[in-house]
Amino acid sequence: MKKIQRFCVPFSMPISVVPALAVGLLLALSPAGLKAEEAVIGADEYAASCLACHGVGGRGDGPMAEFLTVQPTDLTQISTNNEGVFPLLEVFQVIDGRTTLGAHGVRHSEGWEMPVWGARYKAEAGDKFGPYGGEAAVRARVLELVFYIQSIQQP
Ligand code: HEC
Repeated sequence: MKKIQRFCVPFSMPISVVPALAVGLLLALSPAGLKAEEAVIGADEYAASCLACHGVGGRGDGPMAEFLTVQPTDLTQISTNNEGVFPLLEVFQVIDGRTTLGAHGVRHSEGWEMPVWGARYKAEAGDKFGPYGGEAAVRARVLELVFYIQSIQQP
């Protein structure tokens, strides 16, 4: 719970995004989210989906990294590279991958090899959660990863 309370909506965030994040937050607070209270939020999902490329500590040194033409980003340096501010919305969007990025914050190099997680999670959700629930489930999973990455930032 403590992790979630640390989250606050930056003032610069477009108002239309706030309800979307709020839905994700509600889902993150659901029983499944509470069960993970002892572990760090998002850690399991990170280990399952991201570790192969970004490495155990998020430094971009996962076992698959050597087979990629673009090096996976060192995820612990995102704040440092953004003047000490964690660009929450940009990180959300880069993980989701389905929307185009805003002008600043997260880099987007030529041979982008980062998978489009939004599309994968959407496919996995299928129609399990009804016509609108699928999108909420995707946001919850992406948001969990955003929190996790925020928690591993290093100076
Ligand atoms: C197949 C390898 C691979 C997997 C798996 C992968 N990534 Fe990435 N990721 C990359 C690469 C490569 C980049 C750098 C892209 C570039 O700069 O063009 C990247 C970039 C990123 C960035 C952008 C950071 C920045 O500031 O530039 C974030 C955030 C990120 N990944 C998070 C994740 C998360 C969360 C997961 C798991 C859900 C994940 N990645 C899984 C390869 C991967």
